[in-house]
Amino acid sequence: MARYSLLNEDTGEKVELPSVSGTLGPVGLDVGKVYGNSGVFTYDPGFSSTCSTQSAITYIDGDAGVLLYRGYPVDQLAKHCSFIEVAYLILNGELPTADQLEAFDQSIRRHTMINENLKSFFGGFRYDAHPMAMLTGVVGSLSAFYHDTTNNKDPKHREIFAHRMIAKIPTIAAAAYKRYAGQPFMYPQNHLDYSSNFLNMMFSVPAEPYHVNPVAAKALDVLFILHADHEQNASTSTVRMAGSTGTNPYAAMASGIAALWGPAHGGANEAVLKMLGEIGDVKNVQGFMDKVKDKNSGVRLMGFGHRVYKNFDPRATIIRDECHKVLKALNVDDPKLELAMKLEEIALSDDYFKERKLYPNVDFYSGIIYSALGFPVNMFTPMFAVARTVGWVAHWSEMIAEPGMRIARPRQVYVGADARDVQPLASRGA
Ligand code: ACO
Repeated sequence: MARYSLLNEDTGEKVELPSVSGTLGPVGLDVGKVYGNSGVFTYDPGFSSTCSTQSAITYIDGDAGVLLYRGYPVDQLAKHCSFIEVAYLILNGELPTADQLEAFDQSIRRHTMINENLKSFFGGFRYDAHPMAMLTGVVGSLSAFYHDTTNNKDPKHREIFAHRMIAKIPTIAAAAYKRYAGQPFMYPQNHLDYSSNFLNMMFSVPAEPYHVNPVAAKALDVLFILHADHEQNASTSTVRMAGSTGTNPYAAMASGIAALWGPAHGGANEAVLKMLGEIGDVKNVQGFMDKVKDKNSGVRLMGFGHRVYKNFDPRATIIRDECHKVLKALNVDDPKLELAMKLEEIALSDDYFKERKLYPNVDFYSGIIYSALGFPVNMFTPMFAVARTVGWVAHWSEMIAEPGMRIARPRQVYVGADARDVQPLASRGA
């Protein structure tokens, strides 16, 4: 294997950089001792080339458009498995046997209710609070109900935490929507599967019967699988960083939800729908694209581009097909889809996008499906949070289980004022 070192061209001093090899993908150069040995820091804002950890959960090859959960391609998982099966896989490393799946599924179903007192928290939010704001606050508040962090190192405790989080997050997300919609909170129905239960909590009301559409439940399940994990993305890294301090795991989840909210991350699905609404008509597409390509406009084509995928996003390919299936099965004729197709067609053949390797990402189509299923735009990112909770708890647990876990503490290149003395107020001039 190639050997690497850091060479000081002036002094000829060389620091060996040990390699860390994974199962797949490039080796990592261990720069942990660079500062100690040579007095310089490594500098990589945005972490383009920097691994923060070793992980056995998810593998991405951005150039080849590959996404594997525990070694399995995401398209095979979406085709053959339920979300709960995939959640088991991500948490435990292997696909479940029938008995393991039954036990896991039952455990998740048993943990769906939230403490009755937690329900009253929703009433404290303004009527128009964004559901992501409520999700961040209420998930953080779970730490007040499950406050013992001394047993983070106990695998059984971590398992209970994982099951609770995965089971309760749809209940909390649906409750946030009900608060926003001014409708009564609907309790979980544990005879329903995960996605059907979520649809029921979202759309049923006490006044009339509601039947979950199996096409909608299946589509949601696929979307949840595609969003379940994505290795060290911004929100997962946030959960790991917060968790590395030994904080309460529910508080660490809340930090991940807050990070997911931003439009450069999970907030992009909401931004795509807003963008399609603003463009309004196919005849305005070209003018909009001209603005996107004008650096001074500050306008980006939302749902396009990815830090890691520079060829195509494998999730986008699956979602694109799913999107057509759902709209057809539900008999939805959404002009936004036509608009999205036009944008995609122009972008894929335009040099600006080709040169920068910008392709549709998972969020380009997910919003259109959510909209067809009846979800309001401000619920799109909470849906992402429901699915990604699986990844967050798996990464938190993997990190906490590491014997040599250390607090995450990046360094900086300081560019502020040089050291100076404080002048008494009277001598500081006007
Ligand atoms: N529209 C127009 N131009 C873009 C876009 C876009 N969506 N994305 C990147 N570019 C351009 C940049 O202006 C830059 O051009 P330049 O080299 O001439 O300066 C070049 O492509 C590289 O862009 P960066 O911002 O450096 O790429 P980075 O890897 O940092 O950003 C990101 C990735 C944040 C996803 C970006 O592509 C973006 O803002 N996309 C739109 C938001 C979005 O869809 N986010 C969802 C991501 S997927 C997820 O979180 C699930």
